[in-house]
Amino acid sequence: MTEFDNGDISSTSQQRVTVLQQGNYLRSQMTTLRAFETTTAAFCNAFEHIATQLITAALDLAPTEDVDVLTPTGRTFHGVRQVKPVCGVSILRAGASFEHVLRKAYDGPLSFGKVLIQRDEKTSLPTYLYSNLPKNIGSSTILILEPMLATGGSVSKAIEILKEAGVSEENMIFVNLLAAKKGVDTVLMRFPSLRLVTAAVDDELTASNHIAPGLGDFGDRFYGTTD
Ligand code: URA
Repeated sequence: MTEFDNGDISSTSQQRVTVLQQGNYLRSQMTTLRAFETTTAAFCNAFEHIATQLITAALDLAPTEDVDVLTPTGRTFHGVRQVKPVCGVSILRAGASFEHVLRKAYDGPLSFGKVLIQRDEKTSLPTYLYSNLPKNIGSSTILILEPMLATGGSVSKAIEILKEAGVSEENMIFVNLLAAKKGVDTVLMRFPSLRLVTAAVDDELTASNHIAPGLGDFGDRFYGTTD
């Protein structure tokens, strides 16, 4: 993993960002995602490979306790196990793309919540429409699932809703595929205990607040709803 390098945010904030190691495999999968001509099937396939790494990196941040187990050789192994249930909260619709990856990766107590936030295409302002969260959400480690972090408006709304439902910021890990620097700064400054795991950080936003160079509209490409 590497730390996000941005002089605009404090070093404490930088410690809260995990950017996946930029090896050739990850870079090739990201290239597939970013390429204009990639088919929906190839897009979903590449996303699944990267999402697996992101979810693994996020679960690495979840709390553990020491545990001793007996191996088949009769020896003791000093290991760890995760102590809290995990709840994946998808920001709909794009965030739901992570759900099956989380189900495959985590075999401990797992629940899912949904938050529907619509971004106005013209103003980019988020409107909260609906949420459905598990009752015991306050006692879980929360993985906020949202592949794109542009201005940070939608995820900020979702975090506020989670806080109102009793989740403390310390227990939230934002799992993200691609972020714009501006969005990272905004979200980390606004939520000083939030942690973020991402695969790449792009420099710019377009006039319509799309990430640049980016990969276009994630939801349209993942669900095949492009014109
Ligand atoms: N959401 C997307 O799908 N793409 C962007 O570039 C920004 C937000």
